[in-house]
Order: sequence, then structure tokens, then C-alpha cells
Amino acid sequence: MKVLAHGGVGSPRENDDGVKDAVNKGISGKTEALDIVIGVVRELEDDPIFNAGTGSRVRIDGSIQMDAAVMFDGEIGAVSAIERVKNPVSVAKEVYDSPFVMLTGADCTQFARDLGYEDYDPLTKKRKEELEEMNEKLKGTDGPERLKKVREFYEQVDGGDTVGCVAEVYGEYAAAVSTGGTSYCMRGRVGDSPLIGCGFYAGKKGAVVTTGKGEEIIKRMSAKRCYDLIPEHGLKEACEMTIAEYPNEISIGVIAVNGSGIASADNREMARFGIER
Ligand code: GLY
Repeated sequence: MKVLAHGGVGSPRENDDGVKDAVNKGISGKTEALDIVIGVVRELEDDPIFNAGTGSRVRIDGSIQMDAAVMFDGEIGAVSAIERVKNPVSVAKEVYDSPFVMLTGADCTQFARDLGYEDYDPLTKKRKEELEEMNEKLKGTDGPERLKKVREFYEQVDGGDTVGCVAEVYGEYAAAVSTGGTSYCMRGRVGDSPLIGCGFYAGKKGAVVTTGKGEEIIKRMSAKRCYDLIPEHGLKEACEMTIAEYPNEISIGVIAVNGSGIASADNREMARFGIER
């Protein structure tokens, strides 16, 4: 068994303990790669220091919309802009088990409710304070002027603080990701996390998860890019080559697993923890 999880690029290494707790609790009693990555990401979603599930960032309108995905052996389940559920990654697994690949927005939230997922408010005190700060900066703006201001602030946003996990068990690979998105982001905005090949990828050769500003990761489809580099360049170099495709002012992190081990690369601090048994 190999497992590697992260708490988002830009999250300080002092949060390694939080990721370690999530890994230890999340793998407990699990024997399959997919169950392991979901278990670990659920724990990260429940820890308010990370930007996923409880503790997700707030959008400029004050709402919280979350993205999550799971992938195992070429099969995918993803949710985007889901609201008021405790564990978006578990709803992504419900999509995985359905005939669909991705559900989005209010219909996705309704899908979760229909399956018994209760109404849950993931807002924390810290995120409420961040919203007040954003409101103050955008105060008195409306329409195109507000959008212009949002753009100005959004260009300065560094990182997207996804949480993610990759795992290998008996040569089978899985990946899971979850995020509350970025600050200064609009309602309806979707980042890399629920998009195959951008925020995550898992196939016969391994599994990869990325973290950083979604718009930049989507443009480069970095998870699939890294996955495709692994056979020729090896795990560590594939991670480093993926990071090297970004200018230094864009924060980016990647974690990966294959038959030979686990590896990561980043251009900022990135809380993480891995095990190999
Ligand atoms: N990487 C998470 C996001 O941009 O939404």
C-alpha cells in the first residue's frame, strides 16, 4: 500500500500533522485504493484548517460552492459548485456509482439530498472574516465596475488550496480531490479540481493530483500531463517537469504514486504526508 496526501499548495508544513492525522484515520479499516483516497479526503474536508468541506472559502456573494472528484482505473465521479453538504467527495463517489461522470450546481446538491445527504453549513469563523474583508474591498461597486475590481483582486490570488490524495493497493491506483475554490471567485466558477486530467488522473500507470490556481492548471491539464511523463521520466522527475511548466509567480503543487513509490513537487510550501508499506 502507498498513500500520499496534501493540504494544498501554500499550506505551511506545520500543517503536516493535520494531513498525517487525516491519512491515519482515513486509511483505517480500508483495503481498496478508492476507499482509501475517499477516506483520507473526507478527513481533510472535516478539518477546518483546510480549504475543502468544513472551512471552504467563501465566494464574493457570500455563498460556499465546492468541487470534488474521485477516479479509479479510468472511472470517474465529480461534483462541481455543490452547496451545503459536509463531504463533497462522498457525493462525487455517488456520481461515480451512477451512470454519469459529473453533476453540477443546484441539481448536484439536489442529487445529494435525494440520497440522504443532510443540509450542512461548512462556513467557519475564519472564512466569515475573510468574506467581510472581501466585502470591504468591493464595497460600493456594482455591475461591470465590480467585475473589474474582482478581476484585479483575482489576478493577485495565489493558489487554490485544494486537498487531495493518491493511493496504490496491489497495483491499482486511485485519486481524490476536494476544494472550496479560490478567494475572490464568482459564484458558478469551477476550477481544476473536478476536471479530469486537470486536477486529478488515475489509470493503469499510477495516480496524480494537482493543487494551485485552477485556471492555470486547466490551461495546462497538469494531472494528465504528469501522468503521461511518468513512464519515460520516472515519478519524481515527472512531478518536477510538471511544476517547471509554470512561471514562479504561479503557485503549483503535484503529488503522484506509481509502482515504484510516491513523489511530490511544488514551488511553495505544501503540507503533505505519505506512507509506503
Ligand atoms: N485548485 C482549486 C481551485 O482552483 O479551485
